[in-house]
Amino acid sequence: MMARRAVLIGTGSALPARVVTNAELAARVDTSDEWIVERTGIRQRYVAAEDETTSSLAIAAARAALATAAVEGSSIDLIVLATATPDQTFPATATIVQDAIGANGGIAFDVAAVCSGFLYALGTADAMLRTGMASRALVIGAETFSRILDWEDRTTCVLFGDGAGAIVLEARESDEATGPGILATRLHADGAHNQLLYVDGGPSSTGTVGKLRMRGKEVFKHAVTNLSEVLREVLADTGVTADQLDWVVPHQANQRILDGTARKLGLPADKVVVTVDRHANTSAASVPLALDTAVRDGRIKPGQLVMLEAMGGGFTWGASLIRI
Ligand code: UT7
Repeated sequence: MMARRAVLIGTGSALPARVVTNAELAARVDTSDEWIVERTGIRQRYVAAEDETTSSLAIAAARAALATAAVEGSSIDLIVLATATPDQTFPATATIVQDAIGANGGIAFDVAAVCSGFLYALGTADAMLRTGMASRALVIGAETFSRILDWEDRTTCVLFGDGAGAIVLEARESDEATGPGILATRLHADGAHNQLLYVDGGPSSTGTVGKLRMRGKEVFKHAVTNLSEVLREVLADTGVTADQLDWVVPHQANQRILDGTARKLGLPADKVVVTVDRHANTSAASVPLALDTAVRDGRIKPGQLVMLEAMGGGFTWGASLIRI
């Protein structure tokens, strides 16, 4: 049986030019390379210069994804951009990308689900493509968290980085049993925890942009449990078993969360794509950045089963299974 599915036809990513090492941070706050590597797996992060913005990174990632898909920007009729650090409060950063790639006239909007933003954007785009509201979509995760970090707070400033990742999805008739496409997505939120990871400002509360605040240990505890549960849901939805997965592309918050989640599902560590050492936590950008890395270095290939997953502020979390 054939079904209309959202098929992945291209990936791209972009990083700021400047790398900041753990040693550089240790010169600014009371931390050390040893602590950061041991507790998080992070060795460096990319930090945007003044003239690098969420939209400039998103546009570069989008152009790279369009190039690998070999399609024109003008053929895109849907842009869903996940970010918690938009250029401006409004308009949506997606509209800035739309204008830059010449896709004007289609649909363009931002999604705010912090570190799970890319999964929320993917689930939204998939639904719109399958129901015929659009035919070819750019789904983007782009962030400049460096702009909302408290650079005096060692418990948060060492954890995050800037970057963007993008994918092109196309609605196609695909064989239900063996064909490519997004097979299932599950999304969740639990607003009871919305003050464990938050920004202490905003247009309607303080009139300021604010800084990121996190109760890291509590976020950590929920992350492994929530992620394992949502991964099991998507496996059950699709009838795929954990050992049939070719790759897991997780949100890159902490190496220990990646290890803990893989262990709970009985997944070997060498099936988990890891970029947290180089990119740190880039929030909504981390999943598409890691996906693009593993597509470009040849690990992820056509026909493979790839699970994406993320958890973040809200709390929000989700997972999506794709046949490439
Ligand atoms: O992307 C959204 C989801 N976010 C996450 O998933 C983040 C989840 N949380 C985590 O990854 C971890 O909880 C952290 C990496 C944030 C912290 O690791 P931890 O093992 O939970 O450490 P902790 O918060 O329990 O802190 C242990 C100690 C504390 O000192 P005391 O109280 O034991 O004396 C901290 O003050 O480590 C101290 N500490 C640091 N020391 C050196 C905290 N940050 C640092 C630092 N350098 N940067």
